[in-house]
Amino acid sequence: MSDIVVKDAIIFITDANRERGIGRALVEEAIKRGAKKVYATARDVSQLDSLSSQYPGIVVPLRLDVTSKDEINKVAQMADDTQILINNSGFAGYCGICFNHDEQAAKQELNVNYFGTLNLIRAFCKTLIKNKNAA
Ligand SMILES: NC(=O)c1ccc[n+]([C@@H]2O[C@H](COP(=O)([O-])OP(=O)(O)OC[C@H]3O[C@@H](n4cnc5c(N)ncnc54)[C@H](OP(=O)(O)O)[C@@H]3O)[C@@H](O)[C@H]2O)c1
Repeated sequence: MSDIVVKDAIIFITDANRERGIGRALVEEAIKRGAKKVYATARDVSQLDSLSSQYPGIVVPLRLDVTSKDEINKVAQMADDTQILINNSGFAGYCGICFNHDEQAAKQELNVNYFGTLNLIRAFCKTLIKNKNAA
């Protein structure tokens, strides 16, 4: 992340809930580089309690399952000052998909990794364009 872009920016990062996850590290790095506000999402929003208490007034926790279009549209409305969107959510079926022919896992990969990302970009598109000069 470039310091120039991140400083004073309002950033939306999906899935910052896992203690050692990339999402959480991205939130912490963004704040270290001077982000003004970071929307951090999780399926279980209570897993964001430690982040929001560590960075009061900066981290805004939001519930989001990226496979739900309704939830995506809801958070996109709530976070309409977002300038940078980071799609971090991911699901990996790994060998289950190849060796066990786990079709459910394959579908979940597509729903999270492809459609989740696509639907988030679509939901935030106008907001990002509207806010791009404010960064
Ligand atoms: N770590 C690596 O080496 C590596 C390499 C290449 C790419 N990546 C990608 O980088 C991203 C972060 O990696 P990571 O290692 O930090 O991932 P991770 O520890 O496996 O965490 C995945 C995150 O995605 C969330 N998630 C899964 N299904 C979801 C859904 N339906 N809606 C919302 N969130 C959902 C999980 O939430 P829950 O906790 O609720 O399950 C979790 O927060 C992922 O997209 C991953 O594919 C990672």
